[in-house]
Amino acid sequence: MAKKKQKKLPPFDKYHYYLDSVQAPDIDADFFRETYKELKKKNPKILREDFCGTFAVCCEWVKLNKSFVAYGVDLDTEPTTWGKKNLLPKLTKDQQSRITVLNKNVLDKSLPPADVIAAQNFSFFLFKTRDALKNYFKNCCETLNSNGILITDCFGGSGCYEPNEEQTKFKNYSYIWDQDTFNPITHEAMFYIHYERKGEKRREKVFAYDWRLWTIREIREVMEEVGFKKTHVYWEGSTKKGEGNGEFVMTETGDYAQSWIAYIVGEK
Ligand SMILES: C[S@@+](CC[C@H](N)C(=O)[O-])C[C@H]1O[C@@H](n2cnc3c(N)ncnc32)[C@H](O)[C@@H]1O
Repeated sequence: MAKKKQKKLPPFDKYHYYLDSVQAPDIDADFFRETYKELKKKNPKILREDFCGTFAVCCEWVKLNKSFVAYGVDLDTEPTTWGKKNLLPKLTKDQQSRITVLNKNVLDKSLPPADVIAAQNFSFFLFKTRDALKNYFKNCCETLNSNGILITDCFGGSGCYEPNEEQTKFKNYSYIWDQDTFNPITHEAMFYIHYERKGEKRREKVFAYDWRLWTIREIREVMEEVGFKKTHVYWEGSTKKGEGNGEFVMTETGDYAQSWIAYIVGEK
């Protein structure tokens, strides 16, 4: 009897899976616009997506309004080249013309001014000392327009004070978030993303992150030290089951969660 032939999977494309499993760029872009409007009572125009990777948020930003302009900043040409090949062609010519990708360091003093600077997916956790973090936030503050805001995210909870692994199942693959280490003395931790497609063996360490786990309070203090006039925390609401509901609201009191994600916003 002939064995049923297994359907051949397309070549593994790590940026495709990252976008599918980790990012929600349309929701992010909308949240950034709404947060600016809430704080400044007007529309923003210019977004700078620091640590932009495939600049997926820039691509969503320019869809929101015909006047919106986006700059993506990333040192590495590999993800930006992927974005140019896979995301830009899905936009209209007019939308494409309002995106500029810069293969530069986020610490570069000549980065373009912006109304909103977004540093997402905890990328600034790669700055491990207070001086290094200060240097980055200072550059953000100096390159923001006068009414500008910096939006970062942060995660925490008792669950990230020890190694742990969390698997999320998607249609044809699993995404595995692996916290490999945590050093309570330095607050440094090593993370990996693994992927496992149906019928294939697990692909180990597709992405690796060597981070310091900053606390919300430290982040706000450093923002204020470099000149941000006000800082705000947007904390996620929860469902009846106690899971995050994807709605982030400004508050000064967080509820207990084994694992949480929050946005921290600095107003220039
Ligand atoms: C965790 S990925 C974030 C990708 C995307 N922003 C997201 O939200 O998922 C971090 C990105 O930051 C870039 N990066 C690291 N250090 C940088 C620096 N000093 N300046 C600019 N980009 C940097 C890396 O090349 C990488 O693409």
